[in-house]
Amino acid sequence: MIRAVGNHAKNIPIVIHSTKYIRMDFTDDINVATAIIKNADAVKIISHVDADGIASGAIIAQAISRLGIPITPLFVRQLESRTMRYIPNDNTLKIFTDLGAGQQNLMEEAGLSPDNVLILDHHINQPASEGTMYPQVNSQFYGQEYAKCSAAGVSYLVAKELNPTNTDLAELAVVGNIGDMMARETCCLVGIARWIAEDGVKSGHIRIAKGINCYGLSTRPLHLCLANSDDPFLPGISGNPKAAANLMLKLGIYKKSSDQRTWEELHADEVKMLASVVAEQMIANGESTERLFAELYFFPHEIEKTPLRNASEYATMLNACGRWAKPKIGMDICFGNRDQQYHEAEHMLRHHRSIIRELCEHILNTGVVDAGSIQWIHTGDLYPDTIVGIGAGMTLQKFDTTKPIMVLCSVSDEPDLVKISMRTYETMLRRGVDLQAALIVAATEFNGTGGGHNIAAGAYIPKGCENDFIKRVNELIAWQLAAGSPNR
Ligand code: C5P
Ligand code: C5P
Repeated sequence: MIRAVGNHAKNIPIVIHSTKYIRMDFTDDINVATAIIKNADAVKIISHVDADGIASGAIIAQAISRLGIPITPLFVRQLESRTMRYIPNDNTLKIFTDLGAGQQNLMEEAGLSPDNVLILDHHINQPASEGTMYPQVNSQFYGQEYAKCSAAGVSYLVAKELNPTNTDLAELAVVGNIGDMMARETCCLVGIARWIAEDGVKSGHIRIAKGINCYGLSTRPLHLCLANSDDPFLPGISGNPKAAANLMLKLGIYKKSSDQRTWEELHADEVKMLASVVAEQMIANGESTERLFAELYFFPHEIEKTPLRNASEYATMLNACGRWAKPKIGMDICFGNRDQQYHEAEHMLRHHRSIIRELCEHILNTGVVDAGSIQWIHTGDLYPDTIVGIGAGMTLQKFDTTKPIMVLCSVSDEPDLVKISMRTYETMLRRGVDLQAALIVAATEFNGTGGGHNIAAGAYIPKGCENDFIKRVNELIAWQLAAGSPNR
């Protein structure tokens, strides 16, 4: 059962003293969070540089600004010892969004008082070693209905509790959830994340549609949108834009081959016709149609034919800003800026897409090394450490999907470090794989740091120990598989 957020947080005098804060259930955690925010004079918001980080930061920043409390955003590639020095140990409230749950040790070491910290996250919780309990709303604490809710979803629930009229922010919550792949397995948002999307529908900010599970539905000419799809694989269409354009002509969706209509511009009968033709083609080729259709999240008030019109393209735009060192431009977009910053974001998006394409080609052409239970590739200094994880996620399906993929790379401004990104699929989680658990154990043994999710995790390790590290992670994953899933 989904518990909608209640309205009982008003002016509760909750005082958090050092280690005395005790974690409770969702409603209590939300109440604590809103009370902390309302008591603050000024807030520093520290977020991750990806789509969910920017969206979650922007949601809570707007909700707090609307209360008249000044905010200062700070984005970090990852919360680690070096980035902690940018976080002042003063009396202002520091809200960590899309990070923090796994780095409470660092907060404790830096002497941050729980009185001045609030964590809004969905990463696996790693308690601080001296036992300091930082106030936290974390979707991983509240059972299955919340499990597939990203940090942007958590921020939205807090924003809504701060003021029930904050429903316009549901759009960003959906962007963050989609950006963090919360709908990938099920082809739709589920649980509380779906409830948030419906909240946006009720207030007129979101339109939920059922359609083809492809990327670029608002901006890409339909034949390119279909030809670029490889999950699902569309026989005769995937990888073949010419055949896709011919199909559009045959169906009368294009009047001439130079037509550029997008999926979003199709009429309902055209959507139906196209879907059934593609489905027939898949069935005739023995392909499952299970992943052909998905729930799509559109934003009707955004400018037509822009990436801001739907959640997945919006998320890519935020990733493009954040992962290329301009997260504040992404935040400006989330705040509604559609002028200069938007043009800059469009430029970043073009660049991001072309480098991601290059990265994926590099991984596919070079191939991965099979270590037994995992497969890996070292991309050296060819690509920034902020994007290799995306390449790992996008290329895994072309390799052995039963072996988690690990990408190692250099860190440009930290020559003594190596960045690790790992990705796997839900089918492997059901067989016992937990990437974050493996990376935390291995990274700790090699004096590094790691964290993330069971399905997508990362680490930084000292340069020089890569081979031993790969061996160790391989061994840990093999053990996880041998032990199997606890829920099996
Ligand atoms: O949670 P975090 O934002 O730090 O995750 C970074 C990346 O991990 C996301 O951009 C997404 O590509 C991937 N991820 C995933 N599945 C999840 C959560 C995250 O593939 N359940
Ligand atoms: O960087 P990448 O996208 O591969 O990160 C995957 C996940 O691992 C993210 O959720 C990220 O926050 C987490 N991570 C972490 N500690 C690190 C590196 C990544 O918690 N040192």
